Amino acid sequence: MAEIVVQNVRKEFGDFVAVRESSFTVGDGEFFMLLGPSGCGKTTTLRMIAGLELPTSGEIYLDGEEISQQPPSERDIAFVFQMFALYPHMNVRKNISYPLVSQGMPRAQVREKVAEVARILGIGDILDRPVGGLSGGDRQRVALGRAIVRVPKAFMMDEPLGALDAEFRERMAEELRALHDRMGATTVYVTHDQLEAMQMGDKIVVMNNAVVEQFGTPQEIYDKPATMFVADFIGSPPMNFLGFSGTLASGDTVAELGGHQMAMPELRESVAGNLVFGVRPEHIQLVTDGSYRGEVLATEYLGTTQVVTIRTPNGEVKARINSDQPVKMGEAVGLAFNPATVTLFDEGTGRALRSSLNEGVLHG
Ligand SMILES: Nc1ncnc2c1ncn2[C@@H]1O[C@H](COP(=O)(O)OP(=O)(O)O)[C@@H](O)[C@H]1O
Ligand SMILES: [Mg+2]
Repeated sequence: MAEIVVQNVRKEFGDFVAVRESSFTVGDGEFFMLLGPSGCGKTTTLRMIAGLELPTSGEIYLDGEEISQQPPSERDIAFVFQMFALYPHMNVRKNISYPLVSQGMPRAQVREKVAEVARILGIGDILDRPVGGLSGGDRQRVALGRAIVRVPKAFMMDEPLGALDAEFRERMAEELRALHDRMGATTVYVTHDQLEAMQMGDKIVVMNNAVVEQFGTPQEIYDKPATMFVADFIGSPPMNFLGFSGTLASGDTVAELGGHQMAMPELRESVAGNLVFGVRPEHIQLVTDGSYRGEVLATEYLGTTQVVTIRTPNGEVKARINSDQPVKMGEAVGLAFNPATVTLFDEGTGRALRSSLNEGVLHG
């Protein structure tokens, strides 16, 4: 059992604030992603959970017990760095055994544990081989074996696949996820790659500029972004933002953009000023009629779908439509938006307005 609660955690390095009042809960057995651009505070957050840094303020709980100021050795949390560094002069078995031997576990028990890990990872047949001659994939598995042999309460992984090339990375990501599904150990995984986070994670925390922007399942984060940052960071191409200014009241179901009535989820708050109508590329249809029109600037063929760039009265948008729909450059097209999927934002704060779409979703 390992539930991790991070509550109002803040970290300062001198005058610099690396993490601001962050809160989220990692459920027992979850594969949990910390996602955000470089420098936003992911590693610092992970290191605080592991005890490698102490929070300036706020609390961290492991299974209900406060551990915020405990040294790493008392937390029983394993921190997995990039999984490359093996001991080159030792064979596979010795590499995997090392963490157990160094904590003084009896030989027979070590053999048993190593055999179990080797079985989980499918490397039972190479235990007596030197690590020098192994393929890249086997080296990773050995490194992973060494990380998991100790069976800690939770794993912290900091961009473990970061240095791998794309194809290999995808395979290791699948293996890691499958391994997690067999072991069920609580894992917090740092990445700056939104695809990796969406594919692997049970839950995602999106961070930006030392702040938690949103915390939720991949689907919540994608369908109901809490901020413009999240809407832009997740998805490829990202969500379209159509800027307009206006006044909207709680209960409204229509926004007026450039003289056109656009249906949207029912608002739950009032707002005035510079607003943004947010719609994902796959929620735009190109139609022959339709009063809201634009000009096709470019198309990008992607196999079953194509991404069409269109100039509209409220800025450029990208629509993802079927490839078999003919589209010509320079052509005037009507745009229809799926109203149930629209997110409205306040441009000044960057936050999503509350509506029937995102009720109950946690804002950062
Ligand atoms: N020990 C430190 N002393 C001073 N600044 C630090 C230290 N560790 C990290 N930082 C700064 O804190 C910010 C967040 O760093 P980090 O958590 O490593 O970001 P990420 O992992 O998201 O790329 C960065 O601006 C980094 O330079
Ligand atoms: Mg980092």
